[in-house]
Order: sequence, then C-alpha cells, then structure tokens
Amino acid sequence: MLSLLLIVVFASRGFALDNGLALTPPMGWMHWQRFRCLIDCDAYPDECISENLFKTMADKMAEEGYLGAGYDHLIIDDCWMGEHRDAQGRLQPNSTRFPSGIKALSDYVHSKGLKFGIYSDYGTKTCAGYPGSHGHLETDAQTFADWGVDYLKLDGCYADLDDLEPGYIQMGKYLNQTGRPIVYSCSWPAYQEPKGIKVCNQSYTVLCNQTYTSLFQPNYTALRDTCNLWRNWDDIDDTWSNVTNILKWFSENQDRIAEFSGPGHWNDPDMLIIGNFGLSYEQSKAQMALWAIMAAPLIMSVDLRTIEPKFRDILLNREVIKINQDALGIQGRLITTIKKIDVWTKPILPNEGAPSYAVGFLSNRVDGYPYRLNVTLAQLGINQAEKYKIQDVFDPMTREVSQNETIFVRVKPTGVVLLTATPILDKQK
Ligand code: GLA
Repeated sequence: MLSLLLIVVFASRGFALDNGLALTPPMGWMHWQRFRCLIDCDAYPDECISENLFKTMADKMAEEGYLGAGYDHLIIDDCWMGEHRDAQGRLQPNSTRFPSGIKALSDYVHSKGLKFGIYSDYGTKTCAGYPGSHGHLETDAQTFADWGVDYLKLDGCYADLDDLEPGYIQMGKYLNQTGRPIVYSCSWPAYQEPKGIKVCNQSYTVLCNQTYTSLFQPNYTALRDTCNLWRNWDDIDDTWSNVTNILKWFSENQDRIAEFSGPGHWNDPDMLIIGNFGLSYEQSKAQMALWAIMAAPLIMSVDLRTIEPKFRDILLNREVIKINQDALGIQGRLITTIKKIDVWTKPILPNEGAPSYAVGFLSNRVDGYPYRLNVTLAQLGINQAEKYKIQDVFDPMTREVSQNETIFVRVKPTGVVLLTATPILDKQK
C-alpha cells in the first residue's frame, strides 16, 4: 500500500526533484575561488588540483571546527578530469594528480564524516576545457553515484542556451534514477540571465500564460522543481567591488527571484571569499552577514592551512550561521537605503505570533569613520510586536526596544552591523 502511495506521489510530481536534500542552504568548501585551475604540481605541489589538496582540506575541515559548525561538503570544482573518457565512455580523473582515483578520494572524505561533491559541465566541454557531459548524461550520473558523490555542481559552458533547461532537467532525472541522494547544483540561469534568454517560445507554451515583466527570463519554476541550488549570476572574484556587484544584482532582482528560494531549493550568489586576499576584515564580516541574510549557500573557498584566525572566526561564527540555516529558509531582502547604508531584513525563527528578524546594515560609505544611523524598527517594517529584544551578532550587545524607539547603529566604512530582533510577547494576553 505504501509503495503504491509512493508511486502515485512520485508520478503526480512529474519527476520533480524530490531528494529531500538541502532543507537549509548547503554548506561546505570548494576549490575554485582560491585554487582555480592550478594543475602544475611540479611548481606548486601543495596547491595544485590533486587528491593531496582535497585530502588535506578534508582533514582541516574535520579537525578545525568547520564540519562541527555545519560545513559538511567538500566539493571538487573544474580541472580534476583527464583529457579523455575511458573505454566504457566514463569520465576519469587526471591520473598523475589523482593516482588513487575518485572513489578512493570519496571514501577518504566520507571517512572524515564529510560529504563529497564533484563538478562537471552540461555542455561539450567544461569551462576550463575538459570533457563535458553532453551526450553522456546518463553514464555520468551513474559514474558519480558509483563513486559515492553526494553533491554535483553541473556547469553550463559550451552549451546551446536553448538546450540548458531541458538538458538540466534530463540530468536531474538521471540523478534521481541512480537512487543515490545527490545535491544538484545547477548553473543554467547564470548563462541565461546575462543573455536575456527568451522563455516564451513554441517549446515552452505553458510559460507563455505566465506574467513576466519581460519575456527574457530563465524559468525559475523549473529551477525550483529541478535543482537544490542554482548559480544565478557572475562568478565571484576576490574583490570587494565584485561582492557589491553581486549584491546589487541580487537586490535589483529580489522581487523576481527571492520567492523561488526555500527549503530544498536555493538561489546561489557564489562562494564565500573570506580569508583570501581581496577583502578586509570588515568586508569579510559583511560578506558573511549578507550571505546569511540572503539564505545563500555557504561554500568557503580559502586555504584552510593558512587562513588567519580572525577570518576563521568569521566563518565559524555560530550566530551568523544560525541566521543562514534558519529552518524557515526565507531569502532576505534589501528593504531600504538610508544615507548610503543598505538595510536588509530576513524573517527568522522564533515566530510565535510575530516573526523575528535578522537585520543587516551594510555601509556603502567610504568617508572614513563609523557612521551613526538613527532608525526605528517600525521604519524597517518590523512592527508586528510592540517590543523587541535586539542582539548584535558580531559585537555582543542586548537591549530591549519598542518598535518606534530610535536605535543607533554605527556602521564602519564598507562594513556591516548585523542584528537580530526577537519579539517580546506579552504572555498574559
Ligand atoms: C565557471 C563557474 C565557476 C567555476 C568555473 C570552472 O566559470 O561559474 O564557478 O566552476 O567555471 O571552470
């Protein structure tokens, strides 16, 4: 009876992704931002893309508190492959850099209590020019499952833009068919958004009934039903201007995309670059706070052997992680900008009659001193309770305020203040 019920449920969902994974934004470590396609192991033996690098990072994640804080995926990005498939048409790793093979590496990562992720590309080649999955989707899905892969980042280079949506949906079906739960990270909007792909054409007649502000948008309903997370926009680079450009895109498009994010399916503004070369300490806190508010996947990309403790502490800050991992899974939004300070809010738990909120104040000011902003919670739409308990996440402080009371917030140049506001409810009522 149960199996019949499951079949009915499965059939009625039309093969939609239903792997029960990523109920909160995925967390982990991925090599791309910090190590890119560094394959010269003679010149850079400790940094090249090789099994040694991933084993060392797995050790660090397990031993230095990252796994304990929730960063539970170790994900290989591009440049792990050999130039050719094997005689059975299966992908294989570069044999010099991965002499033990991917299954052995996956076993090692699992032995540390971590989950194992890998990268491939829907098109004919990966972005760095290695073999693509086009024409091999079913084989690749099965190969990844056989290797014990728990997370697949499927990129979209060297592919026809019109093929992306049906192709990614097909790959999702093949992943489901393997029977192994695999977090499915898609990239198709990151290729369609900048080009303004047309969705209302003959093959997508259903979509033509929907109201779009423009006919040139990716199909976010299909994304939500197919993928656990998806890259929407540009690659992150190691600069503050790049972080602010990504924030600009996400806030400008929030009314169109935020509703599609939620437990099991997330918008992905790309990796955390904290601890590398481009962000100051204050900017690093700002990236962490804003990624938490956006319910973004928290995928670090930093050398865990050499990261300075103050950056490590940001990545491991339990209060920020708690905001990001809040079970409601609501993507926060930019509410207003006051005196060049962006104010973002995200409803979080507890919600016992009135929601709690995380509130991020991000300064775009560069005028050289912590700017004092006077604001009330009610001004920010936080007015469902009369009184709130305010806590400062990075700078421990607690106080009680009524919704119309002015609170003073001092925000450092290109820095952030991150507060939580929890309703104080009159239990007598
Ligand atoms: C694209 C992706 C990046 C990374 C590279 C690898 O640019 O967006 O995140 O995976 O490809 O080549």
